[in-house]
Amino acid sequence: VSERQPVEAHEHDPAVTPSVGVVGAGIMGRGIAAVLVLAEARVVLIDDDAGALERSVKIIERDVGREVARRTITAAAAEAAMSRLETASEIAALTEDEDFVIEAIPENLELKKRLFREMEERVGADTILATNTSAKSVTELAAVTARPGHVVGLHFFNPPLRMKLVEIVRGMMTTDETVARAAALCAGAGKETVTVADRPGFVTTRINALIGNEAFNMLMEGVASAEDIDMALKLGLNHPMGPFELVDLVGLDTRLAVLRHLHATLGERFRPSPLLVQTVGAGRLGRKSGAGVYRYEADGGRADD
Ligand SMILES: NC(=O)c1ccc[n+]([C@@H]2O[C@H](COP(=O)([O-])OP(=O)(O)OC[C@H]3O[C@@H](n4cnc5c(N)ncnc54)[C@H](O)[C@@H]3O)[C@@H](O)[C@H]2O)c1
Repeated sequence: VSERQPVEAHEHDPAVTPSVGVVGAGIMGRGIAAVLVLAEARVVLIDDDAGALERSVKIIERDVGREVARRTITAAAAEAAMSRLETASEIAALTEDEDFVIEAIPENLELKKRLFREMEERVGADTILATNTSAKSVTELAAVTARPGHVVGLHFFNPPLRMKLVEIVRGMMTTDETVARAAALCAGAGKETVTVADRPGFVTTRINALIGNEAFNMLMEGVASAEDIDMALKLGLNHPMGPFELVDLVGLDTRLAVLRHLHATLGERFRPSPLLVQTVGAGRLGRKSGAGVYRYEADGGRADD
């Protein structure tokens, strides 16, 4: 992994070429980086795991290439987008020039707080520090910094290149200007935004967790099979994916962690379904472990039970 290289091709004009640090090159970080370089931003993608960083750059190349195949961009635009991407293995690669830094490390508030303190040391006074958290408190993260007005949630969805929405989460101290700058960045990247208050789970995570949890309770009660519950929501309620297909993609452990947080903060109606707890205990975490509610072949196809 190379040290951050300066980009010489562009004069830095934040209105045209925002400069964005993305920290954490996992599923979300790499997707957000791809969205932003395609939207003319310069991005430094940072991960302390060199292997993760290398894998992510390959995936971004593949995904940007697919846009060429889909004829949404030209080959030259794809090449230009990739030239705006840099990688680094240390937070020290962030500079005062960053307009935004978007954090996408694992969903652990203590880890995120430590990172926010480190990031703040590196960036300029006007840099906005954003978190991609699905459910943690933006206000608590903001409070560990000396710039709580410049901290905001930017909740992208998986996969970021395909999903239209970004929830802008307004912490208790987030300023109007920060929300406006965040909205402009998202609009520039072709995303629709909704601004939501900093309450656990925002809008989407809260509702999705409740539906997904109820699906496990219904399966446990024998109301219907997993396949039939999925089909009912897809064909009867027009959901693009069934709740079990979705949780297998998200990860059952991730969903359980979210539900535990919502249960602790919002109360009894979010108590994790015993069947979800048991399935996680069995090591069936979803597609990533080869089995969740359903079982998967090595090529990702569904195995017949
Ligand atoms: N996966 C989803 O569907 C989804 C959707 C919306 C939001 N989110 C949120 O996005 C965040 C990231 O989730 P993900 O699924 O992309 O995680 P992930 O596990 O795929 O990736 C996290 C990456 O962060 C890196 N990392 C950890 N600590 C770091 C540090 N201190 N500095 C630099 N890199 C570090 C890891 O090496 C890893 O590559 C979480 O807060 C999650 O709740 C996830």
